[in-house]
Amino acid sequence: MKNNSTPSFNTRLQCHLSILQRSLLTDEDPSSRLLYSYHSAINGFAASLSEDELKVLRGTSGVLAVHPDRRLQIQTTYSYKFLGLGFARNGAWVQSDFGKGTIIGILDTGVWPESPSFGDHRMPPVPKKWRGICQAGQDFNASLCNRKLIGARFYHKGHLVSPTTPSSPTEYVSPRDASGHGTHTSSTAAGISVRGASVLGNGAGEARGMAPGAHIAMYKVCWFNGCYSSDILAGMDDAIRDGVDIISVSLGGFPLPLFEDSIAIGGFRATEKGILVICAAGNNGPIPNSVANEAPWITTVGASTLDRRFPAIVRAGDGQMLYGQSMYPGNQFSDAGRELELVYGRSRGAEFCLNGTLSKAKIGGKIVVCDRGTTGRVLKGEVVKESGGAAMILANTEINLEEDSADVHVLPATQIGYAEAIRLKRYMRSTRRPMARIEFGGTVIGKSRAPEVALFSSRGPSLTNPSILKPDIIAPGVNIIAAWPENLGPTGLPEDNRRVDFNVLSGTSMACPHVSGIASLIRAVHPQWSPAAIRSAIMTTADTIDHLGKPIMDGLKPAGVFATGAGHVNPSRVLDPGLVYDIKADEYVAHLCTLGYTRSEIFIIAHRRVNCHETLLKNRDFSLNYPSISVIFKHEMMRKMIKRRLTNVGPPNSTYSVEVVAPQGVKVIVRPMSLTFSHLYQSKDYRVWFTTSKKVAKERMDYAQGHLTWVHDHQIHYKVRSPISVTWIG
Ligand SMILES: *[C@@H]1O[C@H](CO)[C@@H](O)[C@H](O)[C@H]1NC(C)=O
Ligand SMILES: *[C@@H]1O[C@H](CO)[C@@H](O)[C@H](O)[C@H]1NC(C)=O
Repeated sequence: MKNNSTPSFNTRLQCHLSILQRSLLTDEDPSSRLLYSYHSAINGFAASLSEDELKVLRGTSGVLAVHPDRRLQIQTTYSYKFLGLGFARNGAWVQSDFGKGTIIGILDTGVWPESPSFGDHRMPPVPKKWRGICQAGQDFNASLCNRKLIGARFYHKGHLVSPTTPSSPTEYVSPRDASGHGTHTSSTAAGISVRGASVLGNGAGEARGMAPGAHIAMYKVCWFNGCYSSDILAGMDDAIRDGVDIISVSLGGFPLPLFEDSIAIGGFRATEKGILVICAAGNNGPIPNSVANEAPWITTVGASTLDRRFPAIVRAGDGQMLYGQSMYPGNQFSDAGRELELVYGRSRGAEFCLNGTLSKAKIGGKIVVCDRGTTGRVLKGEVVKESGGAAMILANTEINLEEDSADVHVLPATQIGYAEAIRLKRYMRSTRRPMARIEFGGTVIGKSRAPEVALFSSRGPSLTNPSILKPDIIAPGVNIIAAWPENLGPTGLPEDNRRVDFNVLSGTSMACPHVSGIASLIRAVHPQWSPAAIRSAIMTTADTIDHLGKPIMDGLKPAGVFATGAGHVNPSRVLDPGLVYDIKADEYVAHLCTLGYTRSEIFIIAHRRVNCHETLLKNRDFSLNYPSISVIFKHEMMRKMIKRRLTNVGPPNSTYSVEVVAPQGVKVIVRPMSLTFSHLYQSKDYRVWFTTSKKVAKERMDYAQGHLTWVHDHQIHYKVRSPISVTWIG
């Protein structure tokens, strides 16, 4: 809606209903068509309309923009240790009292409140500022919330009216989680400590979220067939009003213009109100430009690996060993160690083990080799098992290369990389009766290089907004163990009657709540910091080297900034970054002006009337004060200047000097080269000039990267590092 005054809830609802009524072509009560009336995230509403009514609505005065409802997808016992969180007196957990008093709002598939991770033993009382509710529904009543899970709501109006929703959805009409995803992500962010957690014996240890002292509020916006933007916006609308500190969104799709992206639009309002919005970058890597949720006010999280593996080795008949991973509990494999015949179908989908392509006569009692494809990894195992196969080897293809995810399969199975798959198939062609056995090696920690970038993690540069480097940060997202509904098997398949309290999942969905939990530790220690300051602390202290002290890898090569952003989150440094790059809401608006957004597009996002011409005149050479730097050389441009402003949050009397590693083909000059701060929260500006010494041919793109670091003159552990990306567009 065009109007931006903020009347009372009821007046606004009446206003929405009267506008809706004017566009209806029947005599119906407009409230029967209204899905949501939004108040905090935007001024607007969601309604179900015919095409003709839509035309009328578009022409109604007071209506600024109309968007179709979109469907988005949802994309441990150990990761806290891997990240260096522990009980040291000066550590982030002890200093923040485990994130005590903060509230993390999670938009997801719901929650399984009985999971031991959501117990409220030793949790402080519900914060006074909390205004949310525990919404009752199917198999869910208000008494299921406690001092850990302080709120739960559900939103399904958009889902229900969608023409693609089958008529009889089999899931709880309540905040209860029917899929497991939301239970997993919320326990990763803020689950309490649970001893003796494991997935069928794998990865055993003490499970713990990143901020065990923080409270959780679940906003169930995702259903079995996806998450509708109208429901997402309704969840954000309430989360903003309820008083959360952080909104964690492990869902998304492909990049959209910001004024059509409901997460970006709702996220702007949340950010303005001091709420940090943290989102998954998406699982569409390693394709370039695949990063989603890339609004500059959102913290965008990619995924990395841990150094924990679940080896399941294939010992082929000719003696070769092929290294794979699986969480199948080896001791339950009656054929463990026994050699079986190998088969691989080569036609009509049998190579991918599609349902209906495998015959009992051919595969009965054998180890079936299945190529990865588009069907689910665990589902393939189900097909092989139903068709009489004894075991399965999932073989990566050229698309998946060496990506490994340890799945909990329904039959003895392992997954091998592309190079190994080639060797296995070569052996199978070399003999009439190829044989193999699978040896399950349990849980192995510390033997492999980590972190590495997860192959599936979506990559920059951002398409809609290339002047901001995205993703911002990477965090553990491969083989993450976290809480799981007790009535679902680890595969999530209805036939699976194994029962687990914890399960393993991979995705940027798992990486996002790690950062949400860590952000709440910062919020607990520095309640007055803005969302941008908290993000800056996370980014400028990130690691760019792995546990061996070598560059973080991405497959076979060192990772680039479009895969890692600022680097791998390091919670042991985030509470004390020294300096931060702060950003006010007005500056995001000026940034939208530099992107060439129109007045009404900016109004849709920011709910402000902005004259970009004036704004840019007032802010000459405007650059958004982002903690990373993205420089674009277009056409014949040879020189570019950017500005930044640092705010002291470290020791009062401090001098920092700059160190630069210039991207190849670019000269970098920083002025001034040293900054002296005399008190807390003092800000100082600096400028950076980039001069390119090369030109790029027409129709070509070229990239280079470097970094810029402000180092404290005496206390050199204060290192404020910003990655630099340079893009030449020919
Ligand atoms: C709420 O649900 C729990 C678990 O299903 C049940 O034990 C309890 O009696 C219910 N309470 C009320 C007030 O209905
Ligand atoms: C395979 O197809 C059959 C017949 O349609 C069906 O009963 C079975 O559930 C399917 N199996 C899987 C794993 O989808």
